[in-house]
Amino acid sequence: MAHFRVLAGLTVLSAPGDHVQSRSISEVRMHQDYDDTTYDNDVTLLLLSSPFNFTDHVQPACTPHNVTHEVALNFSHCFISGWGSSYYKGLLQEAEVELVDRTTCNLSTWYNGLVTENMICAGQESGAVDACQVLIFVHFL
Ligand SMILES: *[C@@H]1O[C@H](CO)[C@@H](O)[C@H](O)[C@H]1NC(C)=O
Ligand SMILES: *[C@@H]1O[C@H](CO)[C@@H](O)[C@H](O)[C@H]1NC(C)=O
Ligand SMILES: *[C@@H]1O[C@H](CO)[C@@H](O)[C@H](O)[C@H]1NC(C)=O
Ligand SMILES: *[C@@H]1O[C@H](CO)[C@@H](O)[C@H](O)[C@H]1NC(C)=O
Repeated sequence: MAHFRVLAGLTVLSAPGDHVQSRSISEVRMHQDYDDTTYDNDVTLLLLSSPFNFTDHVQPACTPHNVTHEVALNFSHCFISGWGSSYYKGLLQEAEVELVDRTTCNLSTWYNGLVTENMICAGQESGAVDACQVLIFVHFL
């Protein structure tokens, strides 16, 4: 992990700017049930060498307080974010997508049984192909 750094406070990889903060990683904890064939439980926690300082440019993600709160919020959409393909030249991308229920997402015309209870399905209204591409995008977050 000595070769990796976690950066915050930048949107252009090639031009980090004045607001960027960098931390090294002191511990990596993969989900104990991660399955590299099905991608089930594809989530990893990184412990940073020291915390980020929250500023106007570095803020924590909002998360529901508990399951009751999550249900009450009645999410229908979510935001996905990532660096995209090399086509975008390292410019941080963000998109709003609809959450799709797992039963629909698991249909033979969609992910055909590959969806587990640990996965979130999200995509655009225009159809399964977009959802597919977006799901892969979400998957790498
Ligand atoms: C973050 O905050 C700590 C403690 O307030 C300070 O010592 C440190 O210099 C700050 N680091 C950055 C990158 O602003
Ligand atoms: C869940 O979170 C809500 C919103 O913050 C809070 O009002 C409620 O007391 C919490 N419930 C439990 C069981 O912690
Ligand atoms: C949740 O949101 C959806 C879409 O906006 C709406 O149709 C539905 O009635 C809402 N459900 C509840 C329990 O508020
Ligand atoms: C999706 O379908 C597969 C195969 O039928 C099943 O094993 C799995 O439990 C389903 N996932 C969900 C979330 O229902």
